[in-house]
Amino acid sequence: MKTIVVSGGTDGIGKAVALTYLGRGDEVVVLGRNAEKGAEVLAEAERIGAGNRAHFIAADLSLVSETRRAVGEIRDRFAGIDGLVLCAQHFRSSRLVTAEGFEHTFALYYLSRFVLSHELADLLAAAPAPVVVNVCGPGVDFGEIRWDDLGRERDYSGIDALMQGSRLNDLLGVGFAQRRPAGPVRYVLLNPGSVRTGFSGEYDPVMAEQIEAARRNARPVEEGIVPVLAALDAPPAETLSASMTGAPLELTGPAFDPEAARRLHELTTALLADAAS
Ligand SMILES: NC(=O)c1ccc[n+]([C@@H]2O[C@H](COP(=O)([O-])OP(=O)(O)OC[C@H]3O[C@@H](n4cnc5c(N)ncnc54)[C@H](OP(=O)(O)O)[C@@H]3O)[C@@H](O)[C@H]2O)c1
Repeated sequence: MKTIVVSGGTDGIGKAVALTYLGRGDEVVVLGRNAEKGAEVLAEAERIGAGNRAHFIAADLSLVSETRRAVGEIRDRFAGIDGLVLCAQHFRSSRLVTAEGFEHTFALYYLSRFVLSHELADLLAAAPAPVVVNVCGPGVDFGEIRWDDLGRERDYSGIDALMQGSRLNDLLGVGFAQRRPAGPVRYVLLNPGSVRTGFSGEYDPVMAEQIEAARRNARPVEEGIVPVLAALDAPPAETLSASMTGAPLELTGPAFDPEAARRLHELTTALLADAAS
């Protein structure tokens, strides 16, 4: 029996992955901010006879303190993790700063994934074939990291913040592999393409229309999760890999620049140290 942890497992791709593994007889921990939606996942698990293998940890992952509390709860309950699936995301047309002082998309889409990846790495390393599947946006030639303005105080746009988050997650994967080149944990950056999911977010009217159109044309979630399940079932041989709609991506070009990854790792470690103090 495997243990799979899914952040953002109350909707969309994360929920479908969680229920798939519960249906197969595995143990699944879902992290999400909405207790009602968490209870729905647990009720669905009960219906398929997996009630005793389903766990929900309520946590607002846009807060580092909450993410670390969730990490602590996982560590208290489990000695090893086979798969960590990172899906929590929430689009914001208007800029929001969290109570901890981080811009919301930066905090949720990037920082929480950094904390979950690195601070659960030892539990992952205790499993026989562990893998992190970071469901994000590799392979898209768009999105700029504003090194001097990661919180995008200047000229905020929701799309720019989202795309910056995707580029930061590419470098998170590179940085994770740099620190554990010979370890057992595989890191997979996975772009699912357009999938009909919850599209969690607060959209302005123009963006809301675009999202509705995108949702209509998107693939159903059962199709969208196929590459995620493949990566969890048979983790790649390479420490780091990336794919888009199931097709492998070359780990070349600025998106996967080793120096930028080192720089980002150091910067993030310093930001987290400041937040903790
Ligand atoms: N769907 C696509 O077309 C597509 C395309 C490319 C990449 N992706 C990426 O794939 C990943 C999964 O996307 P999805 O479309 O399946 O997502 P989704 O259906 O919108 O679900 C997002 C999940 O994140 C949770 N969440 C939001 N804010 C949170 C917070 N502050 N703390 C904890 N959990 C929070 C949501 O909980 P609530 O239900 O409470 O909101 C929900 O469970 C995302 O990273 C997304 O960027 C998706």
